[in-house]
Amino acid sequence: MTSPRNRESLSRRRFLSAAGMAGAGLAASAAGARAEAPDPLITEVQDWSRYLGEGVDKRPYGTPSRHEKHVIRRDVSWLTASPESSVNFTPLHELDGIITPSGLCFERHHGGIADIEPAQHRLMIHGLVDKPLVFTMEDIRRMPRQNRVYFLECAANSGMEWRGAQLNGCQFTHGMVHNVMYTGVPLKALLEEAGLKPNAKWLMLEGADSSGMNRSLPLEKALGDVLIAFAMNGEALRPEQGYPLRAVIPGWEGNLWVKWLRRIEVGDQPWMAREETSKYTDLLADGRSRRFTFIMDAKSVVTNPSPQAPLKHKGRNVLSGLAWSGRGTIRRVDVTLDGGRNWQSARIDGPVLDKSLTRFYVDFDWDGQELLIQSRAMDSTGYVQPTKGELRKVRGVNSIYHNNGIQTWHVRANGETENVEIG
Ligand code: MTE
Ligand code: CO
Repeated sequence: MTSPRNRESLSRRRFLSAAGMAGAGLAASAAGARAEAPDPLITEVQDWSRYLGEGVDKRPYGTPSRHEKHVIRRDVSWLTASPESSVNFTPLHELDGIITPSGLCFERHHGGIADIEPAQHRLMIHGLVDKPLVFTMEDIRRMPRQNRVYFLECAANSGMEWRGAQLNGCQFTHGMVHNVMYTGVPLKALLEEAGLKPNAKWLMLEGADSSGMNRSLPLEKALGDVLIAFAMNGEALRPEQGYPLRAVIPGWEGNLWVKWLRRIEVGDQPWMAREETSKYTDLLADGRSRRFTFIMDAKSVVTNPSPQAPLKHKGRNVLSGLAWSGRGTIRRVDVTLDGGRNWQSARIDGPVLDKSLTRFYVDFDWDGQELLIQSRAMDSTGYVQPTKGELRKVRGVNSIYHNNGIQTWHVRANGETENVEIG
C-alpha cells in the first residue's frame, strides 16, 4: 500500500536518480526507505536473528557497538611536539544530548596521564590557614557531596581559528570542550575545615602529574561553586580526567581545573605561575596583555552538518548544535542558513543548566542549495556571541585564547561542508 505522499516522493526519487543525483550520494525521500523491489533486509532472516548473541559474561565493562569504531577522540599530529604534552578533541559531530560520554572527553595534558594509586593519594591544604590539613580519598568521601553538570572548555579551544578558517571539522575547531556530571565536595567545606586567615585572598592549586601544573585561583571563586570532584558521569574519574581527584571550576577556563589535585596553598596574592603569565594571557594588538581572563564567554557551534558530517539527504534534515556560557544559562540560540541574511530561533531541547552545554536543533528542508550556516548564542546575562570580526577588532590576532566568535560552515550543492569565514 502506497500512500499518496509516498507515491509523490517515489516519483521524485525516480526523477532525481534520472538526473544523476543518486550518484552524488543524495537520497530524495523525506523519511524511511521506499523499496520498489523486495528488500532482503525485510524478507530474509538475518544472522543476528538466526543465532544466539553473546552472553552476559562477555562484557563485564561495556563498550560501544563495534559499528561505532569511528567515534573516537582525535588529535592533530602537527599541533604539538609530543603526545604527552598535547591535546585530543571530543567528536562533537557524533554526539547528541548534552552529556559527553566519559571515554570521549577531550584530553589536555602537560606531562602525560598520572597513574595514581588512590590509597596513596593525598590532598594537602596549607599556607594562610589556621590548621594545615592532609586529606586522604577516604576523608573526602566522608564529606557532604554534590552532583553538578558543567562544561569544561580549554581557553585554547578554537585558538587555531584566530587568523582565519583553518581546521576542517567541529571536532578540531570546537572539540576542546566536554560536559559531564561531577560528584564532589565543595572546596568551601575543605577550606572551612582548615580555617582561613583574615589576609587569605588567593589559592594555588597544584597537580600530582609530572608537569606539576599549577594555577592561582581567587578566594571568592573558591568559596563559590568550585567542587573537588572524584566522580564523573556516576563513576570514578577517568585517569585522563584526573583520577582520583580534580578541581571543577565552573564556567572558567579549563586550565584552572587542576587534575590529579594534590596541593592547595592559601596566599594573599596570585603566584604568577607559568600558566597564567607566559600562557593563558592574551596579548593585544597594542602590546598590552589581558591577564586572569578566567570566564569562558557564551559560544555555540553547529555540530551537524559540519565538515565531518556533511549533508547526505535531500528533503527533511536535522541541524543540531551546542551552546554554552561561563556566565550562566543559555537563553536563546539563533541560526542562519544563508550567511546572516535571515535568522531563526533554534529549538532548545533537553536540560538548560547553569554553565553547561545546551543542545539546540533546527528542523529544515534542504533542496540542494548552497548554505552558509552560523549559530549565535545569547546567555542569561543578555550577552550575545560576537562575530570573529567583532572579536578581532577588540582583541587583535596575537592571542590563541578565548576565541568565542561565530563559526561558519559552507554546505556545497553536493552536501560537502567546509570551514569558511564570511564578512
Ligand atoms: N591539570 C594538570 N595537573 N595537568 C594538566 O596538564 N591541563 C589543564 C587542566 N588541568 C592539566 C590540568 C588544561 S590546559 C585543561 S584544558 C584541562 O585540564 C583539560 O581537562 P581534560 O583533560 O579533562 O579535558
Ligand atoms: Co587547556
